[in-house]
Amino acid sequence: MDLQLQDKVALVTGASRGIGAATARLLAAEGVDVVACYHAHRAGAEQTADAVRGLGRRAWVLGMDVADAQQVAAAFAGLRSQTPRLDILVLCSGQSTVTPFDQMTPEEWAHIVAINLNGPFHVLHAARPLLARGASVVTVASVAGQTGVPHHAHYAAAKAGLINLTKSAARALAPDVRVNCVAPGMTLTEMGRQTTTALAPDYAQKNLLAGRFAEPDEIARVIVFVSSPVAGFMTGATLDINGGRLLR
Ligand SMILES: NC(=O)c1ccc[n+]([C@@H]2O[C@H](COP(=O)([O-])OP(=O)(O)OC[C@H]3O[C@@H](n4cnc5c(N)ncnc54)[C@H](OP(=O)(O)O)[C@@H]3O)[C@@H](O)[C@H]2O)c1
Repeated sequence: MDLQLQDKVALVTGASRGIGAATARLLAAEGVDVVACYHAHRAGAEQTADAVRGLGRRAWVLGMDVADAQQVAAAFAGLRSQTPRLDILVLCSGQSTVTPFDQMTPEEWAHIVAINLNGPFHVLHAARPLLARGASVVTVASVAGQTGVPHHAHYAAAKAGLINLTKSAARALAPDVRVNCVAPGMTLTEMGRQTTTALAPDYAQKNLLAGRFAEPDEIARVIVFVSSPVAGFMTGATLDINGGRLLR
């Protein structure tokens, strides 16, 4: 199927590794130029950018802490001279800590919510003037935001908020810009491994219909699909990619 993505321009946050890096590469394979964003790991974003260029597309790297509105605004001010237009915005950056509910401090709560909920808002807000008519935004939430979890309540609450931010933005930006959300289950990235090591070895077999955790490309492929014009009638939706962890 032709996803009709040839010569489009995408910005992907969290593109230094994991699901964001996989998304950037798959977008490039469909003919998309990519701005690969990072926070602490510039080398990872450079690797992603090299992979994009290796697929014959243009690539830029852009550093920012998405939790810091001023840093985000400054990063976008610099970006405008390089690419005045964005067709796709993938809000994939995220971070979590594994902390029992009773031990969570207000500082830790605020930090994780700032990255996972405030961050996507700051980036969407800064990107808004660059989003072309017909552009598409994809937010990356989590099944944790749909079920709640005992050991990262801050993250789950932020992701639940992100699902709702997606719906509000879809309403606010229609009909020019579509905004959808993907809600992955546990995926074998650095973040995923941090969570899975805290689980029983047979967790996936017992709790997931798929009987295993996801590979990053399995999430990235859905992100690329929903970002594309082929999914042109989808907006405000949340796509579950959780191997059967949650059926609704
Ligand atoms: N893996 C899972 O099991 C899973 C499940 C459900 C949902 N998700 C969601 O999927 C998305 C990608 O996760 P992943 O598994 O690929 O994680 P990952 O491998 O840990 O990568 C996280 C990415 O987010 C970036 N990031 C972290 N804090 C940031 C900040 N303050 N400002 C800007 N960028 C920041 C990191 O940049 P640097 O490397 O430069 O620091 C990195 O590129 C996240 O939103 C996550 O919540 C993951």
